[in-house]
Amino acid sequence: MSVPSPSLPASASASPAAGSAPTQADLLDFVRRTAADAELIASLPLDPEGRTWVRLKGPGGSEAWLIGWPPGTGTGWHDHADSVGAFLTASGDLTEHSLAARLPSDGWKTLELTEGVDRVRRLSAGQGRAFGRHHVHEVLNESRDRHAISVHAYYPPLPQIRRYSRTGQVLRLEQVERPEDWQ
Ligand SMILES: [Fe+2]
Repeated sequence: MSVPSPSLPASASASPAAGSAPTQADLLDFVRRTAADAELIASLPLDPEGRTWVRLKGPGGSEAWLIGWPPGTGTGWHDHADSVGAFLTASGDLTEHSLAARLPSDGWKTLELTEGVDRVRRLSAGQGRAFGRHHVHEVLNESRDRHAISVHAYYPPLPQIRRYSRTGQVLRLEQVERPEDWQ
């Protein structure tokens, strides 16, 4: 016997329930819907010299950004500490390098990565991903001549960004940025 599912208004399934923290799926849904807003994407100012960004209102109190990436720009290795997140390419192509390894969250300065933990994803327009806490990655626009634009969302709103340098298999914690550093 099948049980009919309750019918919900479209808006109810498109955002997290009131008072509950948005999940990775909620954030991915948000960045997908936002990236489909051609007018919003076209409104982002683009600068050939560097990345540009506009802050957006994310679902459920999350932090969201629209980011423009000139050819050849990237983030460097970093993670978002205790925040989960999602991002999706709205136009152009982005590459994500990430580590398929759960790193100790604190108390280390350098770490030797085991072989085989590197992952590469090429994210063309309409493609994105969600990620959990302590996801270590770098995002790049490897195109020689084409801007990329992407939408990002994080929850809780970014408490920290930890920045790393990498030499071969050695990852070194270089800097911890907190929101007060960005003001
Ligand atoms: Fe990131």
